[in-house]
Amino acid sequence: MEDTSFIIEGGERLSGEITLQGAKNSALPILAAAVLAEGKCVIHNCPDLSDVRTALEILGHLGCAAVRRGHTVEVDARRIANTSIPSRLMLKMRSSVIFLGALLGRTGEAEAAYPGGCELGPRPIDLHIGALRQMGAEISEEFGRITAKSGRARETCVNLSFPSVGATENIMLFAARARGRVTVINAAREPEIEDLGEFLNKMGARVSGAGSGVITIDGACRLTGCEHTVIPDRIAAATYMCAAAATKGKITIDRIRPAHLGSVTDIMRQSGCLISEGESTLSLTAPDAIRPVRLIRTMPYPGFPTDAQAVVMAYLLRARGVSVFTENIFENRYRHTGELEKLGADITINGRVCVVSGVPALTGAHMCALDLRGGAALAVAALSAQGRSEIHNICHIERGYERFDETLSGLGARITRKKI
Ligand code: EPZ
Repeated sequence: MEDTSFIIEGGERLSGEITLQGAKNSALPILAAAVLAEGKCVIHNCPDLSDVRTALEILGHLGCAAVRRGHTVEVDARRIANTSIPSRLMLKMRSSVIFLGALLGRTGEAEAAYPGGCELGPRPIDLHIGALRQMGAEISEEFGRITAKSGRARETCVNLSFPSVGATENIMLFAARARGRVTVINAAREPEIEDLGEFLNKMGARVSGAGSGVITIDGACRLTGCEHTVIPDRIAAATYMCAAAATKGKITIDRIRPAHLGSVTDIMRQSGCLISEGESTLSLTAPDAIRPVRLIRTMPYPGFPTDAQAVVMAYLLRARGVSVFTENIFENRYRHTGELEKLGADITINGRVCVVSGVPALTGAHMCALDLRGGAALAVAALSAQGRSEIHNICHIERGYERFDETLSGLGARITRKKI
């Protein structure tokens, strides 16, 4: 199979302005939600990424017309021809699982394989299945496939033992057409949940509290098409901030919501970055000497995001001292560290704890992207290393970053693609 690599000549200070892409993790549940509308949804600021293309393929398979024009996607779900999603599409990405809630909400049946996605340790869907069952779905799990049947979701209160993002989304999607009120306690509070709530409300659902720990959804009989603009991608923003900071550069990010990045900007400031925020812009100037950060603990939002752990680590590899990370969301989210060591990074892992001792310099190496954010972290580190690096398997990076190489080139990075 053909592999494409990024070739990076490190050592260039990044400097300039970028316009932030729309959020992948918002666009995906919103595209699934479009299945609920007996009409046409127009979704703006939808990033052009391989995961989004997979979602459009799933929609097409279900019988919806899904067309992209630039960053606007139109989904016409007046006719649903199919309620089963082929394994080939389910395995391409984790968030395919949220089509379950949307299909149940719309048609009362859904059939799919277990979802794929980044290998970040065990990623069960027990919270999704348990909640859908509590809402009245009959679900069987046999031979690797999930089959679900239901009437309209029933009035209930779901208490999540962990604020899972995907499970919260699945509940909201199934509940949007519930017979009565569904309450979610200990719901995920991520901005992407709030965005999904807004989208559902525009379709005629009655969601309140999305973005807080308690969400109520009063189901509607019928949902209609609507128009919506996806929020900016806070994790892509964190990645470009780290790339600029790691190269002792400067960056201004336009079309950002600084409030969504509070825990990240806090860590970047602790390391010495100067950051100024406007309503929809953020500017960062890197320090001359990077200060280590004593403890970075990944937590559900508004805590420090697990999705930014790898890129912030890549930035702190050359800090003057020791930084400590604890990964509290996923069991296996340090796979990038073995690759970063090839650049000369000094990293020790003990279970969920990762100790990064800053080194004065990194040198270019051949590395392999093993997952999306870990892959982006390799690029951040390679940009700040001396000499040439090659990053293989960049399909992982392209699942989440639109025109990653062009965006970095625009900031002065020396990055090219090579087909192998
Ligand atoms: C979403 O994944 C994001 N994906 C992830 O982003 C992100 O890392 C994650 O939330 C946490 O913020 C999308 O939005 C498409 P979870 P999700 O359910 O929904 C456990 C990226 O890089 N859990 O909140 O899968 C689970 O194993 C991606 O863009 C259960 O035990 O995350 C994990 O340890 C990667 N049972 C924790 O909860 C369940 O039924 C958090 O998972 C569900 C989850």
